[in-house]
Amino acid sequence: MRAGGSDPIREAVRLLAERRNAVALTGAGISVESGIPSFRGAQGMWAKYDPMEYATLRAFLQSPRKVWEMLSEMVSVCGGAVPNAAHKWLAALEETGVVRAVITQNVDGLHQAAGSRRVIEYHGNMEELICVFCWKRYPTRERWTPGAVPLCDCGEILKPNVVLFGEPIPWLAQEQAEEEARTCGVLLVIGTSAQVSPACDIPRIAKESGAAVVEINTEPTPLTVSVTDIHLRGSASEVLRRLLEELSMDDETSPSTPSGH
Ligand code: OAD
Repeated sequence: MRAGGSDPIREAVRLLAERRNAVALTGAGISVESGIPSFRGAQGMWAKYDPMEYATLRAFLQSPRKVWEMLSEMVSVCGGAVPNAAHKWLAALEETGVVRAVITQNVDGLHQAAGSRRVIEYHGNMEELICVFCWKRYPTRERWTPGAVPLCDCGEILKPNVVLFGEPIPWLAQEQAEEEARTCGVLLVIGTSAQVSPACDIPRIAKESGAAVVEINTEPTPLTVSVTDIHLRGSASEVLRRLLEELSMDDETSPSTPSGH
């Protein structure tokens, strides 16, 4: 927390209880506890795969088979993952009316699997493949098998319908995300290093529109010293659990506990 001496969890709960219409912006950190590696840091995907060689549209167009070495790993890891407690606590916050939407940079579908209903997928998702030549789309499970590159009926190599570097954000997701940021009372920024534009602009838009920014992350980020009002340092599951506990103590309508937790 940047100002004052009170308990930052209590301070965040006070803001959430007062303003209620909170929106969450999530990143890879929220899925780490589901066994999906994040991107940055020693254990991250970009330590193993240079993003300039494996994660740009240009790289895909030039060497799709090489890029599929990384994509195959992502598809199989995401396909085998299940929501963790943090995804479930966030869905519970939506269920109780505290959070009204989740904007996610993640492509793993775990927010929806945990029960979140209003999810804006800012970077697309892994469930669909698209042909960048004829634009035909297919469910990933129909076309992808481990060890092979998925092909379109036209013969070209398919790409997951996710945003690679050099591609625009899907226009509807971008519009909806910015509208949520402009109109929310609290933005919960969870598990993102806030280094990738334009997603990293969302907290600034929220802040400039009058929202309080509460950051949940195991580490500080560039936001922590610029736009963040309260930094709740810790794992997403632990911090969200404590937030829900404190909120339910504050509120007579106690939130339902996610199954298994
Ligand atoms: P990063 O890997 O850049 O950042 C993950 C963040 O999560 C870091 O700040 C960690 O400190 C934090 N973290 C790790 N474990 C955590 C936990 N258990 N609880 C809370 N926080 C935790 O991932 P993103 O910020 O999501 O885009 O990356 C943004 C974009 O960069 C991705 O969507 C992807 C990537 O390149 C594209 O590929 C276009």
